[in-house]
Amino acid sequence: INKIAVLTSGGDAPGMNAAIRAVVRNAAYQNIGCVGVYRGYQGLVEKDFIELDARSVKNIINRGGTFLKSARSKDFRTKEGQEKAYQNLKNENIDALIVIGGDGTFTGASVFSKAFDIPVIGIPGTIDNDIKGTDFTIGYDTALNTVVEAIDKIRDTASSHDRLFLIEVMGRDAGDIALNSGVGAGAEEILIPEEDRGIEHLLESLKKSRKSGKTSSIVVVAEGDQIGQNINKLSEDIQDNLPEYEVKVTVLGHIQRGGSPSCYDRVLASRLGVSAVDALIEGESNVMVGTRQKKIVYVDFDKTIGGKKKLDKELIRVADIVST
Ligand code: F6P
Repeated sequence: INKIAVLTSGGDAPGMNAAIRAVVRNAAYQNIGCVGVYRGYQGLVEKDFIELDARSVKNIINRGGTFLKSARSKDFRTKEGQEKAYQNLKNENIDALIVIGGDGTFTGASVFSKAFDIPVIGIPGTIDNDIKGTDFTIGYDTALNTVVEAIDKIRDTASSHDRLFLIEVMGRDAGDIALNSGVGAGAEEILIPEEDRGIEHLLESLKKSRKSGKTSSIVVVAEGDQIGQNINKLSEDIQDNLPEYEVKVTVLGHIQRGGSPSCYDRVLASRLGVSAVDALIEGESNVMVGTRQKKIVYVDFDKTIGGKKKLDKELIRVADIVST
């Protein structure tokens, strides 16, 4: 390997900059050239490149977002777009690619790698933590801390006014953010797509906790949850059934994607960034670098793309017990 390109694609996540930094620094350490690609796969098609050396990535470990910017590229989905991207890489003598992103990013990488026989390594970067084969994705820990901080603040006002708050959190089809932030912030109820208990169960449970003496409540709703899909309708249903409460809705939205990465995410991003370059040197291709039980693992794209992570049943039980 003489020269690699690195890009970030899909939704940005805190810690992506730290991952880019680690890729660039390990490349420099191993005397491999490194090029940054702006705007994900779109920049690959349009040859929006920048030469990067160890000094180009100073003072970014602490910054949220991605300085290389991110995009969801339509052009790269076409054969012509991919052809252009490949030619751009060849013209710059780039012989390998590292992509930082989620499932969609890996899908593009896998197609490209197979079609043009170019080694590609993926680094999982998404706040959703929904990538099969790795225990954690870059950005997830920071997002959890942001959510917990926000819920703590909402709790202050909820309890001052005897209100029930429905708080919608991100996560796409996964309930990891909802379940973990819900436990961390002491939510009364947590609605996640992986376990649909139905509205009756929710109403019964809220009534029970009201009877037990609770005067305010926090319900964390994953954006992908079946009954949470229409959060305003859910709010009306709860209001009709629990007139003692004043029901309010807060959608946390993109605040969850921003901010300075937590120490955990910086360390994870540094480890995965270094591992991605190591993997290329070892001759790997078409794999994601991840961590399982603290150890670095290589997972074939085919084994992670489209896969679903197992739900943490034990944590659901804990949530049920500690919210009574
Ligand atoms: O995948 C990260 C994520 O923030 C999801 O949690 C959310 O569903 C989606 O991206 C939002 O996408 P956009 O920023 O394009 O609105």
